[in-house]
Amino acid sequence: MASAKRVLGALAPDLELVDLPFGGSAIRSHGDSLPAETLEACRSADAVLKAPVGDPEFDAAEVRPEQGILRLRGELDVYTNLRPASQGDVDMVIVRELVGGLYFGAKGVREDGTVFDTCEYHPSQVERIARRAFELARSRRGRLTSVDKANILETSRMWRRVVAEVAADYPDVEVEDMLVDNAAMQLASSPEQFDVIVTENMFGDILSDLAAAMTGGLGLAPSASLGDGGPGIFEPVHGSAPDIAGLGVANPTAMLRSTALMLEHAFGRDAEARRLEAAIDRAMAEAPTADLGGTASTDEFTQTVLARLAD
Ligand code: IPM
Ligand code: MN
Repeated sequence: MASAKRVLGALAPDLELVDLPFGGSAIRSHGDSLPAETLEACRSADAVLKAPVGDPEFDAAEVRPEQGILRLRGELDVYTNLRPASQGDVDMVIVRELVGGLYFGAKGVREDGTVFDTCEYHPSQVERIARRAFELARSRRGRLTSVDKANILETSRMWRRVVAEVAADYPDVEVEDMLVDNAAMQLASSPEQFDVIVTENMFGDILSDLAAAMTGGLGLAPSASLGDGGPGIFEPVHGSAPDIAGLGVANPTAMLRSTALMLEHAFGRDAEARRLEAAIDRAMAEAPTADLGGTASTDEFTQTVLARLAD
């Protein structure tokens, strides 16, 4: 986040940045991963730029940093999560449904000790995400892959039916249904076949890590979470990498690319977003961090991005 703030200061100094407590540090200071003041400020902001969350200190705790991100996504109703992944011949966007399914269904413990999580979707939730995905596919190469587990799950059978209904409004988009296990294999063996993938929350969580691994690693993968008109959330796909915390060597690319997505989607500042992406690409070639086989620290990498922005 420190890297993103420096870059924004150089690239878009007119944007007013407000720091708010969230995640593990907010649990420590406020006893809550999403304090009320943070939620209110996010609601009234134009965009939310979010640092990664997660801290092993809370692994066994009742109040966890991850609960804050789920609540924030739900409260802002950012149902469309765009996860672009590209490198070489591969150029895809995973459109992950973000506020339904297993993440948000009823969960609990029965008297006999059985623990359960339920996957629920209403057709209207599927319809709205499907429309977003078709619109995106139409603006790209016109290919949409809808990923489900329709041979097993009721939610997936309904998902497939609704996607087919929405498809009637997009005759120019070529749509294909794919079972999630096959999709994982296809992503690992021939990722270049995909243009836009649309899928439910949990499948999208898993497949987007795989897509990131196929295109340079989690350190590079950004995301944009959008609702209908309210503020979007812009955050890396990855977590907080506690194994390298405090060493100053994390690759800030996913955070910076999320910043570029914010400039584009929240502020319509496409030219600045492109400039930032180009500067990041050059920094990755000139001063890569350790995850990409280089030796640059987070700070050195950020300096290079700033220098290329100024070119
Ligand atoms: C992601 C993350 C989150 C998720 C976690 C941190 C709750 O893995 O954004 O992919 O599972 O959605
Ligand atoms: Mn994830």
